Amino acid sequence: MISGYERNGENDMALSLFRRMWVSNIKPTSSTFACVVTVCAKISDLGLGSQLHGHVVRTGYNFDTYVSTSLVTLYADCKQVEESMKVFYESADRNVVSWTAIVTGYGVNGRHEDALHEFSKMVSFGIRPNQSTFTSALNSCCGLEALERGKKIHARTIKQGLDFDVFVGNSLIVLYSRCGDMNDGLKVFSLMGLRNIVSWNTIVVGCAQNGYGLLAIRIFDDMMASFVEPDSITFVGVLTACSHCRLLEKGRHFFQMLRENPAIDVKLEHYVCMVDILGRSGNFEEAEEFIRSMPIKPNATVWLALLSACRLHSNIEVAQMAAQEITNLDPYNSGAYVLLSNIYASCGRWNDVSQTRVMMRCRGIVKIPGSSWIVLKESRHEFVCGDRSHPMTSEIYGKLDWLGGKLKEYGYVCDKNFALHDVDDEQKEYALTYHSEKLAIAFGLIATVDGNTVRVFKNLRVCGDCHSAIKLISKIVGREIVVRDSTRFHHFRDGFCSCGDWW
Ligand SMILES: *[C@@H]1O[C@H](CO)[C@@H](O)[C@H](O)[C@H]1NC(C)=O
Ligand SMILES: *[C@@H]1O[C@H](CO)[C@@H](O)[C@H](O)[C@H]1NC(C)=O
Ligand SMILES: [Zn+2]
Ligand SMILES: [Zn+2]
Repeated sequence: MISGYERNGENDMALSLFRRMWVSNIKPTSSTFACVVTVCAKISDLGLGSQLHGHVVRTGYNFDTYVSTSLVTLYADCKQVEESMKVFYESADRNVVSWTAIVTGYGVNGRHEDALHEFSKMVSFGIRPNQSTFTSALNSCCGLEALERGKKIHARTIKQGLDFDVFVGNSLIVLYSRCGDMNDGLKVFSLMGLRNIVSWNTIVVGCAQNGYGLLAIRIFDDMMASFVEPDSITFVGVLTACSHCRLLEKGRHFFQMLRENPAIDVKLEHYVCMVDILGRSGNFEEAEEFIRSMPIKPNATVWLALLSACRLHSNIEVAQMAAQEITNLDPYNSGAYVLLSNIYASCGRWNDVSQTRVMMRCRGIVKIPGSSWIVLKESRHEFVCGDRSHPMTSEIYGKLDWLGGKLKEYGYVCDKNFALHDVDDEQKEYALTYHSEKLAIAFGLIATVDGNTVRVFKNLRVCGDCHSAIKLISKIVGREIVVRDSTRFHHFRDGFCSCGDWW
């Protein structure tokens, strides 16, 4: 009876029946424990769960596979991974279910390296991962941006014939899009036998963020033609596509469509996208009007979208107003000051630049330090501006010097505005040449096979000077360079960037 309730999601009924059993002095068996612990895991009731664990140990049922597996899941779901591991290693029989619980448990707690470690151990013990295990392992690869390792796991899913599985497929698409490898993401999507709303959303959002806006919209049309109802995330995807590809009319059209859809609430995210679309296309009045007439209270991110658009159009008036609105909402938002001072710099208003800086210092606003990283097979290499801590520092700087010479040959002049006044992302004290993304790219060029794509991740927006330099570098070395920054992807190829220099 308890098990019946549990399987039908009637957790309260299951627990109350168990209590009645308990007070009636009927001894629970291992199945009873396994079942009730599973209920505790589902509702994350750690208190009751650990009480039951105590009883289980006293009765010796902890050697039962089902009981121990349910305890592993309980602790993992309650974010007690260490406890989970303890039960796991004490249990006599480790099966796919308990291994999966461990891999997933580490993953949901952000301990992706440990998750992948357990995954490899499981495989080396000859236990076949199932869909759930693969999904968790792939999510951990995604958390580490470990594309190579993800590809290995992908190969294993193919071997087991699980690559058509909808959950595995979805995780693969997320991994590939987050690493800027849309070709492989699209391949997985097109081969998927069954697709759910998550599959469609993931591919639409992935294409949009990677700058394949028109493709994102085409897939959206396919989705409608397949009678799949779009949801809130789908609209974030198509609106992002319109903003990154500057498709004003399409953007208006999708927003209208969203408004008219009674099944979806228009959320802040959608407003942010729309402000972005209006701002980028230079419709500042309409954008401000749009924000002021929003039925929900705009947060700092909405105004930040307008402020970023001001940077593209060097619109100082609107920028000042938007920055004021942001500081009213969130006085410690460093992004607003940084963007504002960039806009001043691009208009040559150096006085205002230094005033903004003084204001930042007085108010104790700390800039987030910029860093870039690159993930090779099992290792992650992170760089900050002017970094000399990497073991291959001399090779990296040698490569940068060589690139510097080549860049000059190609007629590149360093944009001094960014060198002297860009408080954007990184300390100006360091020469522009040694911005973190350039160090990461130089290292990537050395450490990967010639001709292969170099993938770099950055926590902040890539600066204008680096952007121009990387375009040329991609041409000089004849390689594709993908940079994922805080807002989008840049695919540099043969002297051009997929963002069309509007980012
Ligand atoms: C895979 O394992 C999980 C437990 O880890 C289980 O819930 C799921 O039902 C299994 N899937 C299949 C198809 O066996
Ligand atoms: C504003 O709201 C959006 C959507 O909920 C959220 O993603 C963003 O983090 C919020 N911004 C701030 C500064 O809280
Ligand atoms: Zn830079
Ligand atoms: Zn770009």
